[in-house]
Amino acid sequence: YLQEECLTQERRQLIASLPTEKGWVANHLHQYQGFWHTTRQLLAVLTCQNQFQAQDTDILLVTTPKSGTTWLKAIVFALMNRVQYPNPEVKHPLLAENPHVLVPFLELELYIDNRVADFTTFTSPRLFGTHLPLVSLPDSVKNSACKLVYLCRNPKDTFVSLWHFTNKLRTKDMGENSLEETFDKFCRGVCLYGPFWDHVLEYWKESLKKPERVLFLKYEEIKEQPKVQLVRLAQFLGCPFSAQEETNGVVDEILKLCSFDTLSNLEVNKTGKLVSGEEYKAFFRRGEVGDAKNHLTPQMMEKLDQITQDKLHDSGLIF
Ligand code: A3P
Repeated sequence: YLQEECLTQERRQLIASLPTEKGWVANHLHQYQGFWHTTRQLLAVLTCQNQFQAQDTDILLVTTPKSGTTWLKAIVFALMNRVQYPNPEVKHPLLAENPHVLVPFLELELYIDNRVADFTTFTSPRLFGTHLPLVSLPDSVKNSACKLVYLCRNPKDTFVSLWHFTNKLRTKDMGENSLEETFDKFCRGVCLYGPFWDHVLEYWKESLKKPERVLFLKYEEIKEQPKVQLVRLAQFLGCPFSAQEETNGVVDEILKLCSFDTLSNLEVNKTGKLVSGEEYKAFFRRGEVGDAKNHLTPQMMEKLDQITQDKLHDSGLIF
């Protein structure tokens, strides 16, 4: 892949004009529309903003990185395809493919590396994943009636998950990033699609303004009450579970299929990798709430709590 191909004169000038910081894995992060992107991803964001044509029936799964994107993709895919696969334990695409393949990312997959995005294999409603902040969504998304499901996770666990994940993406030569160095960056908002708090807050406000358009979910809430959240999700997406489905255990079946244990133990997820090189197993680590306390000092925990309080204090959103 030649990054040069994506770099028109206009884009070069734009990138040169943006604030830059050293990335966690890539050399550079650029702050575009208030949020940080690697050079490669920023180019894809620009292409996606220019080219993506949303349809009213599209469903966008929007997440902050490491908030449970893989899980959400699996759940919504299983939910929307439940009629086609009535016996998911025996036959289901999720048993043979990673959720990121079944629900591709807009900017990180379909438009990456100057690709001509191919939508011919999609059936309606089309399902896409994205980490784009609200401000950077393509105009066609803003102007259509498509639905957005937003998922986030408490900042402490998100940070710890991101620290582990990015260290897995670093080569042996690069060595691992120290917890302290990346913690400082995360607190300053300098991480992929950060600042974390701004990302969450934009979608939180939008979900209050347009509840029929944006459903706001938290990882911890799905962990705590998976059935309640799945029923809520189905209602929001216009395909509620019938009484018969509920008594037949369809809700439980979907949750079991998409559970950490089931997905992480599948052959495909133990051995496969994305075209872009990330091993599927990197997306499954512990899948628990509260793991941050095993890695962060009490001072670090306090600092993140303080930032969270400062940033979200009058929003009604709490973690
Ligand atoms: P941990 O690193 O805390 O274990 P994303 O999918 O957005 O990249 O997020 C990855 C995080 O979600 C990881 O968190 C991963 O273990 C967890 N995860 C992946 N699949 C999951 C599932 N089916 N259920 C719950 N958590 C899951």
